[in-house]
Amino acid sequence: MENNEKNFWKKFDSPVMALAPLSGVTDAAFRRLFAKYGKPDVCFTEFVSCDGLCSEGRDRLLHDLWFDESERPICAQIFGSKPENFRETAELINELGFDGIDINTGCPDKNVEKQGAGSSLIKNPALFKEIFAATEEGAGGLPVSVKTRLGYDENIIETWLVDILDTNATAVTVHLRTRQEMSKIPARWDQAKVIADIARQHDSDALILGNGDVNSVEQAMKLCEESGVDGWMIGRGIFGNPWFFDQEINPAEISLETRLEVMLEHTKLYSELFSDLKNFALMKKHFKAYASDFTGAKELRISLMESNSYTDVKEIIETFLASHS
Ligand SMILES: Cc1cc2nc3c(=O)[nH]c(=O)nc-3n(C[C@H](O)[C@H](O)[C@H](O)COP(=O)(O)O)c2cc1C
Repeated sequence: MENNEKNFWKKFDSPVMALAPLSGVTDAAFRRLFAKYGKPDVCFTEFVSCDGLCSEGRDRLLHDLWFDESERPICAQIFGSKPENFRETAELINELGFDGIDINTGCPDKNVEKQGAGSSLIKNPALFKEIFAATEEGAGGLPVSVKTRLGYDENIIETWLVDILDTNATAVTVHLRTRQEMSKIPARWDQAKVIADIARQHDSDALILGNGDVNSVEQAMKLCEESGVDGWMIGRGIFGNPWFFDQEINPAEISLETRLEVMLEHTKLYSELFSDLKNFALMKKHFKAYASDFTGAKELRISLMESNSYTDVKEIIETFLASHS
């Protein structure tokens, strides 16, 4: 059963700002920079497989569940299709000290879907409900939330949301597109009002968050005000911008030196945390984002793409700054 003391979602009294789970992007290193430079109200781990965590390979996945105290409140996001594995994983997440558990019912990845997980669950509300109940059983009172989409082939949010609200979900984030639409069309924020109205009619306590194409705190707050949803989540708009949630900072005013120093800090943290676990090349998508929109950015990016370590990046940045100051 829900334990109100543990339900951090209840403490918000203005639109909730959430950092999206982005697999391969919002890992422990990047999230720690958000905690330092512009803290969201809530963040999520990248999604982690319940089947994997319940297998002999568990140890190889545990780094996806690393977090720092500074990131709280933080939810672990999990995916799968076997209720028993959700229960066991929820127990683990509770032991690890997370603030909440989020169930992924939106991922369109074929490998995830063929397991009957991710957005496949939209087509199987009965299994989803079993999974939710099993997760709650293992969660030891931690709040359980859900991330989903408007539907699978078509927008069925009016019925699907009711299925979700029939559970004890403490928050529901809706990526405002169907699985079929992937991210190919603009997010349908017109549906956010429909969703907020359904939740109200259902007399639900669950917080409703809209997600898709947010590009500034100001824009997102306006979308919440217009639609009546309780908060918003941002994904792709945060690349290269750990200052995103700090409403006092105008990203355009961040000096080039600061931006590159923070990129270096990010690289250092990534190397310290993951050097033996993840390929250094995974950092390069971040380099592309940090090193853009200034004179010499293209040449800098080309050099950074050749780097193989934190030491290489440090040298490249120092040389660049010395010749551009
Ligand atoms: C690279 C990438 C990885 C993602 N990984 C996850 C994930 O692990 N879990 C999840 O629920 N959604 C994941 N998503 C979806 C995002 O959380 C978000 O719903 C989507 O990008 C729409 O929001 P946006 O327009 O602000 O990016 C991912 C999206 C991208 C682009």
